[in-house]
Order: sequence, then C-alpha cells, then structure tokens
Amino acid sequence: MLILGIESSCDDCSLAIVEDGRRIVAHTVASQVELHRPYDGVVPELASRAHTELILPTYRETLRRAGLGPEQLGGVAVTSRPGLSGSLVVGVAFAKALSFGLGLPLIGVDHILAHLYAPQLDSTREYRLEYPFLGVLVSGGHTLICKVNEFDSIEVMGTTIDDACGEAFDKVAKHLGLGYPGGVVIDRLARTGNPAAFRFPSPSLHKGEHRYDVSYSGLKTAVINQLEQFRDPACEASHENIAASFEKAAVDMLLTRVVRAARDTGLQRVVAGGGVAANTYFREAMGQHTEFTVVFPPLELCTDNGAMVAGIGYQHIMRGDRSGLDLDVSSRVPRFRHTYP
Ligand code: KG4
Ligand code: ZN
Repeated sequence: MLILGIESSCDDCSLAIVEDGRRIVAHTVASQVELHRPYDGVVPELASRAHTELILPTYRETLRRAGLGPEQLGGVAVTSRPGLSGSLVVGVAFAKALSFGLGLPLIGVDHILAHLYAPQLDSTREYRLEYPFLGVLVSGGHTLICKVNEFDSIEVMGTTIDDACGEAFDKVAKHLGLGYPGGVVIDRLARTGNPAAFRFPSPSLHKGEHRYDVSYSGLKTAVINQLEQFRDPACEASHENIAASFEKAAVDMLLTRVVRAARDTGLQRVVAGGGVAANTYFREAMGQHTEFTVVFPPLELCTDNGAMVAGIGYQHIMRGDRSGLDLDVSSRVPRFRHTYP
C-alpha cells in the first residue's frame, strides 16, 4: 500500500510516498532555510505562509518523482502534533482536502513518534529493527530519552527541563553571529576547534525523577554571557574553539543520560533521531559506547521529512486508526516535556 506523508510542523515542507511502511518511493523536501536566514531563526508567520505556497508544488513533484498518479495512493498521513500551529494547519488542511477529494483514509500522526520510526525506512539495513529499544530524540523543539515499546507506544524517561538541545545550538550560533542554521554551522566550526579550550559547566540534574533529564539554559548562558570565565588561558577564544567546547558540553550531557538509561533498562539498542542526530561529534561519541549498539537513520531521515510520516501513518492505517475531517492540530504534547522541580 502506498501512503502519502506530509510534514509541515516547522520550516521544512516535505512530502513522501512510502510503500508498506518501509520503502521510500519518492521523497521531496522544500527547504525554507534562505527565507529564515536573515532572522537567524524560524519566523513562524513566514513559515506558515511559505508552506501554503510550497505544499502544492511539492506534492506534484513527489508524484512526478514516483511516476504515480493520485489514484494509486492508498492513504494520507500528516503531522498534526506537536509543532508550530500555523505551519501544522497548512499540512493538515491539505491532507484533509486530498483525503476528501480522493476518498482516501486520513491519519494525523505525532511528529515525535514519526522521528523514532525513521530508522525503519533505512533501505541500507538488512534487518528489521525490533522493539523495544531506547529512543534518543534530539531536535530543535525536543530532547527526549524514552523506551520505545511499539511504533506508537513510548515511555518517556528524560526530557529537557528548559531549552531543547538543537535550540541551544541555534541560540548560541545566533548570539555569537556564527551563521544560520546554527547546528550545522557549529558542527562545521567545531571540526577544527579545540573542545578543551573552554570548560563549560554541566547541570547536576541526577537525582530522583530527573535522573535522565537535561538542561541547556545554563550552558547557553555560559557560552553567550560568561564566556571568559570558562576559558583555558592557554587557548584562544576563536569561533572554532567555542563551537568545539560548546558542542562537547552539549552532547556529553546528553550522553551521560543515555548511558544511564541504557544501563538501567538493560536495553542494548539505542536509536537516535532528530536534527541534532546529524551532528558529527554526537554520532562518533555514541558509536564508541560498547554497552549498546546505536542506530542512526540516514542523514536525510534525521531532519524533518515526509517519509517518516508516511511510514508511521501506514502502521496506523493498517491497524484501522483513522482521523476525521475534524482533525485538529496541537502545538504541544505535555508528556514530552518535564518541568522543574
Ligand atoms: O528535527 P529537526 O529538523 O526539526 C525539529 O523538529 O526541530 O531539527 C532541527 C534542529 C535545529 O536546532 C538544528 O540546529 C539542529 O537540528 N541540527 C544540528 C545539526 N543539524 C541540524 N545540530 C547539531 N549538529 C548538526 N549537524
Ligand atoms: Zn523534527
């Protein structure tokens, strides 16, 4: 069965057609990076307007690449939560129109669960990924460590109590004028920097229910406002050194929690996803752990994409789940965020 997946929760307008929840037939991403670059961050109002312009041509291009007509589709899946409301509404309205016009089943899917489904679409891996596994989702909007029991069933273990990991990358890059998109720029600069040039503080969130939680606001403040306090006097305060030291602090904080969660649950397979899972140091450092094996989706499936939406949508549709034409969007899903204390 061919499912069309629609992803418009943030700044990427992406559509894909996936067969039987596994094989990507066509995948198109219309990036809005140039639109948001002058602001060094995603401007929600501009993002939703751009989605309204991009979604129809992206849909047509996806069908063209697949060599298919709309009548060959078996269902429509769309991200309906969480994300920017105005952007989500565009994808959901488009999906409803297609579903109504073509008489296709419609399913609204959860963006976080879709990210955790992404490795199931990796055609380079011979085996099918078995549940349960430990999921580590690190994106611009979320930072989550969870036990993934099924495609739609997760137990949240840790989250960020303030900023998301990718958000910290973006804000640090913005304040230091490093460029946009922040995560990608910091990753590039860090490759030639010294990660020991700055010793940034790490929050001591290790007790009780916060055993697996992270916090990025202190690190962000240290990098933006208190830089000199943490510098090794022998090292220069170059952009490369700041990037490498920040990246190491941000990723290591997450890694200690992931290792803790893997030990506590006994889960030996860790699946990483979300935009920050594209980070070079994160991938290297995760790969060095011997207690667990780590699975990374291909880079194009780490960032936002319609394929993961189509893939998980297929699983829902096969189970008989359906959304009505009254499908609504929600910007937040409370269980994906812990508060402090
Ligand atoms: O999953 P994603 O595309 O969108 C959200 O759902 O948020 O993730 C985007 C985030 C941004 O914060 C971006 O800076 C970060 O992922 N990112 C990276 C890298 N590539 C993207 N962060 C660190 N290193 C990278 N290579
Ligand atoms: Zn995402």
